[in-house]
Amino acid sequence: MGCYDTLLSPQVASFAFGAHGMLIGGRWQSAQSSKTIDVFDPATGRKFTEVPAGDAADVDLAVRAARRAFADGPWATMPAAERGRLIWQLADRIEELVDEFAQLESLDNGKPVQQAKAVDVPEAVARFRYMAGWAGKINGETVGLSQRGEYHAYTLRRPIGVVGQIIPWNFPLVMAAYKLAPALAAGCTIILKPAEQTPMTALRLGHLMAEVGFPDGVLNIVTGYGETAGAALAAHGDVDKIAFTGSTEVGKAIARAATQNLKQVSLELGGKSPVIVFPDADLDRAIPGAAAAIFFNQGQTCTAGSRLFAHRTVYEKLVEGIHSEIGKMVMGPGLEAGTTLGPLISAEHLDRVNGYIEIGRREGATIVSGTLPRPRGGYFVNPTIIVGAAPDMRVSREEIFGPVLCVTAFDDDELDAIAMKANATEFGLAASLWTRDLSTAHRMAARIDAGTVWINTHNHFDPALAFGGMKQSGWGRESGFHAVELYSSVKAVLAPLN
Ligand code: NAI
Ligand code: MG
Repeated sequence: MGCYDTLLSPQVASFAFGAHGMLIGGRWQSAQSSKTIDVFDPATGRKFTEVPAGDAADVDLAVRAARRAFADGPWATMPAAERGRLIWQLADRIEELVDEFAQLESLDNGKPVQQAKAVDVPEAVARFRYMAGWAGKINGETVGLSQRGEYHAYTLRRPIGVVGQIIPWNFPLVMAAYKLAPALAAGCTIILKPAEQTPMTALRLGHLMAEVGFPDGVLNIVTGYGETAGAALAAHGDVDKIAFTGSTEVGKAIARAATQNLKQVSLELGGKSPVIVFPDADLDRAIPGAAAAIFFNQGQTCTAGSRLFAHRTVYEKLVEGIHSEIGKMVMGPGLEAGTTLGPLISAEHLDRVNGYIEIGRREGATIVSGTLPRPRGGYFVNPTIIVGAAPDMRVSREEIFGPVLCVTAFDDDELDAIAMKANATEFGLAASLWTRDLSTAHRMAARIDAGTVWINTHNHFDPALAFGGMKQSGWGRESGFHAVELYSSVKAVLAPLN
């Protein structure tokens, strides 16, 4: 236990510090190997609990349980509208427990508890509610054929089957909701593998789903490492679909593993998203906007605005403005009221982010670090601006996944030239444009190679709006009906009537 546990409610403390199993076919159990994974408080670096270290043997049990629940449980015969009602009830319960979930997430991930309460938990609730609405409205269509004769032809949209879902540690509850909500709405059964760093809120969710009445085996949770449990899930021959959010490198490994039985794959991967500030931008909005774009969630956001392109005429003001935004932040343990910037997720990740700052320095860029008081212990890093990084430097090209912003000035007035610079990345997840000119905004939006383009905002999501990446940022679109499509397949039925 860390030294901030006193800030936890008794319910959260008793859950977090208690014993944890993984969920297979409605039973909470240890790993077949009996091995465990230590879970750390990022604010102190201390272990606060342990969870089972599931591996291929546990994944296999979970897949069998999910297959049974898919083929012949109450889930298989339940009217779709009833699935929707269960998902809605789950959303209600999470909402009732908002403080509990926010504390648990903050303890596990390190993020400011206020953020978890204002953003993470409501975002998860909204996603379950939105997808609950789809459950009873997933239909095929009748189709008029192109050939002569009388026919009855139609399509059915069916759940895709048993799905594996592997999620990261940066938004543990939100990522669970992104994955679970559409899969449940579509009628699938699931094996969820949370990140080894942050299993807590997924496990709590597993308990709540049983409580609201989801049948056994609909959600199975295998806690475990990526290289063992995650890899086994991606390769398993009886998994019909694998959904993944995380690094591009692991996304590629998952796509390769999936070819063994040609399971469907959706991937939400890394990014190096540009923030482009035009000369006419409202700087009172663009400055805090650009700062939040990179520093929100300690920079551990797939859509983080990590490359700032500022027109020469506003460049100085922007850099100064962002620097003064850093000065307003309060770096500290996520559980402490008033903290706006928490620790990074792990010692390993802290080393990686510090390593990138050092690489930037060695490559010849100028490092402008924030000077926030640094709490003792924990995985803290000061927000950092890298100025004068050339486009070919590693810090300009690779995903750092920390509070580190690369800033570049541009002189071009041609939109094509600006877009070329912004698009010079192997990623294509998101971008934001800051301008008052409607024509500039929409012409530029058309030119950016990214799954999401924001205008005068950044990191702004909605369960109804498509989300996903172009290029090496991924395959498929989550949110909206796109997400239901990821978890369903279409069957065509044709009957000649004469
Ligand atoms: P990761 O991609 O290794 O981990 C994400 C999830 O994948 C975890 O649940 C992990 O257990 C699992 N996993 C790892 N290796 C696997 C494998 N071989 N087969 C199946 N599943 C596997 O990310 P990691 O190592 O935590 O962070 C490394 C970098 O990845 C970060 O610095 C960041 O750049 C990027 N990242 C991007 C995220 C995003 O939202 N796009 C989220 C997390 C990390
Ligand atoms: Mg990894």
